[in-house]
Amino acid sequence: MVWSALPRFIYDPPTVTLFFICCVICPMRQILYFQEENTMTLYETIFTRRQVRNYLNSPVPEDCLSSILACVSESEQLSGQHADFKLLPAAEVSASQGASHYLLAFCDSSPSAYANVGFLLQKADLYVQSIGLGSGYFMNIKPKNELKRFCIALAIGKADTPARINESEFKRKPLNRISTEDTAVSRAVRLAPSSLNSQPWELKFEPGKVIVEDAGTGISRLILKNKLNKIDIGIAARHAVLALEHNGNAIISAVPKSDGSKFRIEITYKEDEK
Ligand SMILES: Cc1cc2nc3c(=O)[nH]c(=O)nc-3n(C[C@H](O)[C@H](O)[C@H](O)COP(=O)(O)O)c2cc1C
Repeated sequence: MVWSALPRFIYDPPTVTLFFICCVICPMRQILYFQEENTMTLYETIFTRRQVRNYLNSPVPEDCLSSILACVSESEQLSGQHADFKLLPAAEVSASQGASHYLLAFCDSSPSAYANVGFLLQKADLYVQSIGLGSGYFMNIKPKNELKRFCIALAIGKADTPARINESEFKRKPLNRISTEDTAVSRAVRLAPSSLNSQPWELKFEPGKVIVEDAGTGISRLILKNKLNKIDIGIAARHAVLALEHNGNAIISAVPKSDGSKFRIEITYKEDEK
């Protein structure tokens, strides 16, 4: 009965149109979308990701966990830095945010080390959301057993929070407050997540170089300047690197610098010659 109706459905233009309109507007689309593996690049995910605060009571499949850990562990780190990562189930961390797993970062206590953690965790954050899972940064989550060198945790879990449709849904400073130039890099950095949404960065452009500088001010600067603002700068640098690569440039180095002037990350690249 259903099969015999199928040809009529396929060849009936109004029905087909209605079906596609439903796919576009109905909330189920999010569920279908979230089940598709790796449909978006990390760069594309910059424009749709969000901090996920509510998770479903269902574990992340093992193969996804391995690929998330590989994504962060095998990634190039900022010059001179070395962070370690553990992906633990909720039972092994102090306060659960409801997510089934937590990606924990361990590093030295220096501005460059914190920035490096942001640089790596943001790659994981984008990867996790690109495969249809939810993720979010949480300052209050700690491992139960191993506190030495612990820096911050990224919650990872299944979620039904819809991804953002595009950049108009982000609450961010206007572009001209972070950069004098409207480029793919500044647009991608503008959307980066940050602690308390403080967005403590400014961008400078030189030939073959992008500088992401710590420009936090005001009360949030006082609260966050030591650790969280540095993680934020690393996160912003990840967005800058992805935008540069998306435009065909090859990254030569990403170097954190805290030599008296403002903390910054200098990204050097070879320009696309096409
Ligand atoms: C280093 C860092 C720490 C954060 N800590 C928390 C936290 O403890 N709790 C929370 O709800 N959100 C936390 N956030 C999420 C930010 O509040 C969020 O990224 C920001 O408001 C922008 O929202 P969006 O990520 O959805 O664009 C943190 C973000 C970063 C980058």
